[in-house]
Amino acid sequence: MSPLPQHADHAWLRPDAGTELGSRAVALDAAGGLAETVRAELETLTARHGGSIVEPADAAVVLTTAERAEVSADLGALPGEGFALVHGGGRLTVVGSSDRGLLYGYHHVRRAGSGVLDAADGTETHAPTQPIRMLDHWDNVAVHPGMGQVERGYAGGSLFYDNGRLRPNLSRVEHYARLLASVGINRVALNNVNVHALEARLLTDGIGDVVRLAEVFRPQGIAVYLSVSFNSPVVLGGLPTADPLDESVRAWWAGAVDRVYDAIPDFGGFVVKADSEGQPGPFGYGRSHADGANMLAKPLARHGGDVFWRAFVYNHRQDWRDRSTDRARAAYDHFAPLDGTFDDNVVLQVKHGPMDFQVREPVSPVIGAMPTTRLALELQVTQEYTGQQQHVCYLAPLWSQVLDFPFGDDGAPTVGDIVSGSDDAPSGGVVAVSNVGGDEHWTGHPFAQANLYALGRLAWDPTLDAATILDEWLAETYDDEAVREAVRSIMTGSWQTYERYTAPLGVGWMVRPGRHYGPDVDGYEYTPWGTYHFADRDGIGVDRTVATGTGYAGMYPEPWACRFERPETTPDELLLFFHHVPYTHRLHSGTTVIQHIYDTHFEGVEQVERMVATWESVRDRAPQAVVERVQRRLEEQLRSAVEWRDQINTYFYRKSGIPDEQGRTIH
Ligand code: GCU
Repeated sequence: MSPLPQHADHAWLRPDAGTELGSRAVALDAAGGLAETVRAELETLTARHGGSIVEPADAAVVLTTAERAEVSADLGALPGEGFALVHGGGRLTVVGSSDRGLLYGYHHVRRAGSGVLDAADGTETHAPTQPIRMLDHWDNVAVHPGMGQVERGYAGGSLFYDNGRLRPNLSRVEHYARLLASVGINRVALNNVNVHALEARLLTDGIGDVVRLAEVFRPQGIAVYLSVSFNSPVVLGGLPTADPLDESVRAWWAGAVDRVYDAIPDFGGFVVKADSEGQPGPFGYGRSHADGANMLAKPLARHGGDVFWRAFVYNHRQDWRDRSTDRARAAYDHFAPLDGTFDDNVVLQVKHGPMDFQVREPVSPVIGAMPTTRLALELQVTQEYTGQQQHVCYLAPLWSQVLDFPFGDDGAPTVGDIVSGSDDAPSGGVVAVSNVGGDEHWTGHPFAQANLYALGRLAWDPTLDAATILDEWLAETYDDEAVREAVRSIMTGSWQTYERYTAPLGVGWMVRPGRHYGPDVDGYEYTPWGTYHFADRDGIGVDRTVATGTGYAGMYPEPWACRFERPETTPDELLLFFHHVPYTHRLHSGTTVIQHIYDTHFEGVEQVERMVATWESVRDRAPQAVVERVQRRLEEQLRSAVEWRDQINTYFYRKSGIPDEQGRTIH
């Protein structure tokens, strides 16, 4: 068993931060499991920073819950997980709607420091916009041949499991749970959506491991979930079928669910990847995905649990010669007709784009097409297609753009509005694939911690600005202002930088098949995966129009369907996702497609060169372990960006025969 490195790197919960709250006289007047967590936090914080825990009458800050609060302000009904900050009578009273709201209020005040502690008299209320704020771990219990232990993990092995077993020492998981609670995460799925034989057993004889992990997450208000195999009745129960309409199958699931709840009364529920990339599902039995999801939902509903059913269903064995099949259409074609047929405790989990977490995709049309279904937006914090935590790529601007996308004219409900639910629409939220592993810096690249932080903050409040979140994270993570300034400058715009030196104008892919790292322009071109760019000597891009293409553009409500139908009204950054155009096609930016490809690839590399120089300028000021780790990763990012630039530019120069207007070196 290999021990995990201890957490010398505390990520954004630095022990020396939180001075403002930690140096005051603080009282806690609340009951409940999470109030005990707040008490432990306060004891550590005040002991470190010279404050004290006192009686409420003597306190400068009182933390309490609505049922006990003695404040003159009228708080009304505080929303479920929310809290109020009441300044008056010479003190700040933090009022949680419950002990959970109090935990979030504590972290808010600790983070904000004197800006909140010393504010003028008055009351403000905070509550999460998204009820579901969840992380999915793609961790396998054991190392899986060809994939490592964490599928698409770039931060070492699993934080939870080592060598086929749960780690005996879960102290790092405890800190991880604190990190997650501090940004409001309230659910975690513990294993990979591709459920292998060993991991399938977590549901039955491996449940003891889940009990232990639930004990670690519970004090931070986080419910645990399991990814389960749809074929569990066969592989675990020995039944001849997993047909969702078969009575023996239903009885098997009911028994399995009851046993899980006997062991973990606050268990969250299941995550299911069905009929997707080889995983079993209801199609195998001639049933619909509503049949499958509802079959699992029923026994879970008796215990208050949910099913997170993934919409990532497509044909991964397509014939590349077949131009009528479009992977981008698949989730909509499968799921939109099922709107209104799922049970109330089914949440349909939809990837943000129609393909697969590319650096640029349009928003998935499924999100606008299922008004009577609970929907969760699925994001990928782990940087599978965005540099695998070797490259700096701050993803909050991408996620903000997705969350802000209106399904209709300006003022129409945005993705964030739709998934959060409303009086007329059922609520869902945000689910994301975690980027954490056993690595001493948690996320491989120390700056990738910012993506985890930002995910939690955006799920709490989708209107927060990506730059503000970055500043918050910097303030919490690094104490030296020059270091913060350097990291800010490296990370700001890093998503667009990554986009510049990789696949152009929304066409996606062009990565090495399987591993998804590094350039390989035609790597996927003649494969069964449905991910093509169709570059020839005259042009490039996928015709997804209704008039002449796959019809995908018509899956959006107006004005988007019309806008995406014509190159003239399609945003430049998505042009090649929707249209096949000549290399000489002129973009809104004024340049041609081919010149755009050359320009952005040269610029992208220059931007990485500047990142390297910026980091060099603070190398004596940042923690040494971070300096070295970041430096090595930036070197790799530069090497890889140069490789991308040269392969992409050379490929398109050879295809088109059109030279660079500026005569730069193309090999
Ligand atoms: C991608 C990824 C897989 C993953 C899948 C999913 O295709 O490469 O590793 O299993 O997404 O989201 O299920």
